[in-house]
Amino acid sequence: MNRKLIKNIPVIKDAKKVKHKHFMIKEIKESPQKAKELLRLLKKYPYVPKIIDEIYNAENVYITGAGTSFHAGLLGTYYFNKLAHTKTIISFAAEFIERFGDSFTDKDSLIGISQSGETKDVKNVMDFLEHKKYKKILSIINIVKSSIALRSRFIVPLACDPEIAVPATKTFVNEIITFLYLAMTLAKKKGITSQVTYKDMEKLPDLLAETIEKTEPSAKAAAKFLGKTKEFYSVGYGITYPVALESALKIKEITYAHCEGMYSSEFKHGPISIVTKNYPVMFTIAKSNKNIMLGHINEVLCRGGKVLAVGPEDKELKKQSNFYIPLPDANQFFTPILAVIPFQLIAYYLCLQKGYNPDQPRNISKTVTVA
Ligand code: AGP
Repeated sequence: MNRKLIKNIPVIKDAKKVKHKHFMIKEIKESPQKAKELLRLLKKYPYVPKIIDEIYNAENVYITGAGTSFHAGLLGTYYFNKLAHTKTIISFAAEFIERFGDSFTDKDSLIGISQSGETKDVKNVMDFLEHKKYKKILSIINIVKSSIALRSRFIVPLACDPEIAVPATKTFVNEIITFLYLAMTLAKKKGITSQVTYKDMEKLPDLLAETIEKTEPSAKAAAKFLGKTKEFYSVGYGITYPVALESALKIKEITYAHCEGMYSSEFKHGPISIVTKNYPVMFTIAKSNKNIMLGHINEVLCRGGKVLAVGPEDKELKKQSNFYIPLPDANQFFTPILAVIPFQLIAYYLCLQKGYNPDQPRNISKTVTVA
């Protein structure tokens, strides 16, 4: 989009200022307000119909990003499939040219996601497509005056205000809300009865606030439960898989413990051999995958492992877990949006417990401008 159009993007704000010790916790707690502002913006954002047309008419839709933004894109593919019956193809930005560079055509579209709008791996994909004269680039970004915005035909702003802490928190929440909103809008255009409505989405800010309020004490206790653990797994299934990856990334990034994110069903194909007495495995559960994940939980328990789980209010799940964090009752499609909050909080409190600064982990900068 050109600079003039970018300048005219509306800004919606009514946030109250609260003091916090670290930017990371401040930004986690801004999520409900930022989600509200995003939803208000999306409702009247003139480019949403154009973006939906672009996705609707494309032969193939690719989604690309790095790190946390990649995880948001992964969930985006789930939402487009489930709600709009539309196939989208996810790729790490750094891998896109190698994997799809030769088969991408001018009938395809690309959705790039980047909080900073400056990530070199994503910029490289845009430059590659621009060089080939493929112009169908859409982007979801927080910093609207950025290189990626300038390289895009249309952008969706994340409306998060600056995110200062290196770990992405509120921007991840708004990235996934954006995907849910786009998938729901595409479903409407295709005449598919969506399992999520705009009215449902209006409940999200309050649900996020409730999640923060209810899960913060448990997250602090969960950090103690995990204690000095140096390595563990975080697993999810279907809709919760991207949260498993994201929780693992957040924990690795700021606590320096090794936490591997994995598809829950894959755990039994090798990694399960690591489970001995008290080995911790974290589970993210949605109502729809309760039974299959209960089976996976039992596989860990019967080998003496410890289970920390996040999921719906459910007696059986609570009973089967050593540590259970229930989420507020909500539409099934909101599970990842709410479930990521306690994991962001666990990462934060685990980091404090180890005496590290969550805002500035070693070896990483907020914007990764090298390939
Ligand atoms: C997330 O906590 C990380 N700091 C990192 O993975 C980040 O999401 C990645 O570098 C991509 O950044 P972007 O969204 O600004 O493109």
